[in-house]
Amino acid sequence: MRLLVTGGAGFIGSNFVHHAVANTDHHVTVLDALTYAGNRASLEGLPSGRVEFVQGDITDAPLVSSLFAQADAVVHYAAESHNDNSLHDPRPFLDTNIVGTYTLLEAARRHDVRFHHISTDEVYGDLELDDPERFTESTPYNPSSPYSSTKAGSDLLVRAWVRSFGVRATISNCSNNYGPYQHVEKFIPRQITNVIRGIRPKLYGAGENVRDWIHADDHSSAVLTILEKGVIGETYLIGADGERDNKSVVATILTLMGRPADAYDHVTDRAGHDLRYAIDSTKLRRELGWRPSFGDFDAGLAATIDWYRSHEEWWAPSKVTTEAFYAGKGQ
Ligand code: NAD
Ligand code: TYD
Repeated sequence: MRLLVTGGAGFIGSNFVHHAVANTDHHVTVLDALTYAGNRASLEGLPSGRVEFVQGDITDAPLVSSLFAQADAVVHYAAESHNDNSLHDPRPFLDTNIVGTYTLLEAARRHDVRFHHISTDEVYGDLELDDPERFTESTPYNPSSPYSSTKAGSDLLVRAWVRSFGVRATISNCSNNYGPYQHVEKFIPRQITNVIRGIRPKLYGAGENVRDWIHADDHSSAVLTILEKGVIGETYLIGADGERDNKSVVATILTLMGRPADAYDHVTDRAGHDLRYAIDSTKLRRELGWRPSFGDFDAGLAATIDWYRSHEEWWAPSKVTTEAFYAGKGQ
């Protein structure tokens, strides 16, 4: 299959390209604008006969159309992806997440290309800490931030293009990912690289917020499963039963890195900070037979720490600007 992967130089997209090259015979073309979040180095070491890179914007309709004309399927990861940035400057989130997804859907419609849309569990809003429920495919949309509302909008566009125009699309909404190649603005790599730099980890508010962690490689295997076996028009939730509160994640990072478990600072909380996300992935497991491989979060975290320790040249250029941004907000 000839796969077009948007956002393939970002965190989850690059993990997917590595996973697809290792586990399938697909040829992959990456379309990525190389924003601050994209990094060509994340695709180093891949065979040039299997992976092609095109630098370009998903809102560029003629470019998108020419690439869809040569693709059997498209996996759409490209997005503005960070909540804190969306609170600072929402506009790029509307351009990429809404107009960009619209541009891709129009090309999918014109060229009748199979389309898989990558989304987030954040479209469902948040849960109380003691709520026994988890998100399912029928949970009503209730996004909180400019980021999650633009992702929710993009999901709804996909559903409308399936129903109105017969576009052959599926959607997946995944929980928080961790693993190699994640930008240092995000929670886990920010704290790991802080400790490497001798800076104390920064916990928003009381640190009681809960995220449902999944290794990026498990996200990739789920997406390949949906591409192969998913039913057109359906949405699948992806999660690996990895609920942890932020405080305990920071304590584990500190312990694994040989520091006292409480050597962190509480900083200004995020505006509108979602309390808890939790995914029920029964549909994906029962109907498509998918299972995660990374069962042990602490082991996955230890491997991720090793990766950041041995890839300082990959993250160091972003660290200074990222910390300057947070310092300006008291975070
Ligand atoms: P990321 O910010 O690391 O990567 C985004 C990539 O998209 C970058 O390479 C960037 O250059 C590219 N991009 C941005 N705007 C573009 C444009 N206009 N045209 C072309 N390329 C553009 O993001 P990520 O964390 O890898 O997230 C990837 C996808 O997965 C997003 O759709 C996100 O909503 C979704 N998702 C993320 C998580 C998570 O935990 N990070 C969880 C669930 C779903
Ligand atoms: P983040 O990685 O930004 O992902 P998301 O907002 O999509 O869940 O943040 C994960 C959690 O960590 C979230 O509850 C916010 C919190 N957080 C901190 O406590 N400190 C930090 O420095 C960052 C970046 C996030």
